[in-house]
Amino acid sequence: MIAMDENDISFFKDGLRLDGRRADELRPVKIEVGILARADGSCYIEMGGNKVIAAVYGPREVHPRHLQEVTRAIVRYRYNMASFSVEERKRPGPDRRSYELSKVSREALEPVILTSFFPRSVIDVFVEVLQADAGTRTAGINAAAVALADAGIPMKSMISSCAAGKVGDTIVLDPMKEEDNFGQADLPIAMTPNGDITLMQMDGNLTPDEFGQAVTMAMKGAKDIYELQRRALVAKYSQISTDSAREE
Ligand code: CDP
Repeated sequence: MIAMDENDISFFKDGLRLDGRRADELRPVKIEVGILARADGSCYIEMGGNKVIAAVYGPREVHPRHLQEVTRAIVRYRYNMASFSVEERKRPGPDRRSYELSKVSREALEPVILTSFFPRSVIDVFVEVLQADAGTRTAGINAAAVALADAGIPMKSMISSCAAGKVGDTIVLDPMKEEDNFGQADLPIAMTPNGDITLMQMDGNLTPDEFGQAVTMAMKGAKDIYELQRRALVAKYSQISTDSAREE
């Protein structure tokens, strides 16, 4: 295999990125709510080449029982990448990366979930990555937040997630795989619609100025994603209320 670094690659052609996007443009996003009959809430999301399903179960009894908290529900989040989701087959089962992503994703969502309403119970979130193209943690968090709302879990607000990166010395929104793998930095965030940040991670190097630019850009991306999450939920629930009005 030929070793490549960022100097070998041109990330821009005629001022646009290799997939034709401007530096501050998101990949196409598609969100479907309530796609799994046996989950309490669910969501399918496509963000560019990422295809991810989130399923929420609960609030329900905690097993094993010693995990129960007397004053609140616990939240469990399992991020899993299908072995066929990436170019080089991924060995099935949890690994260090999936433990990390599960932890930071849970922590991104937990602050808005009203866990004190459900003492001694658990809210389980399962995120399955079917196809990966960089940004699976952000896609998973976006799908999980919609699935939680679909499950009727009381939340203070929605959570929306997006990354910014640095490629060819330029700050770009929502890096795709080539940009993520061979770029200079990657900065995923998650936030409420008010701009309270619940996740921030960074790979690579940014100057303080670039860091500011990247955070601003990722927050703008997350805000746009929030609008799409909201619309997807409204689309599902306005359809349900129209159907039940017809039945009456
Ligand atoms: O997916 P995300 O950007 O949140 O996490 P990452 O660890 O920065 O991974 C970036 C991308 O690398 C993934 O989205 C996959 O496309 C790819 N990847 C892979 O091909 N094989 C793996 N075992 C892990 C990641």
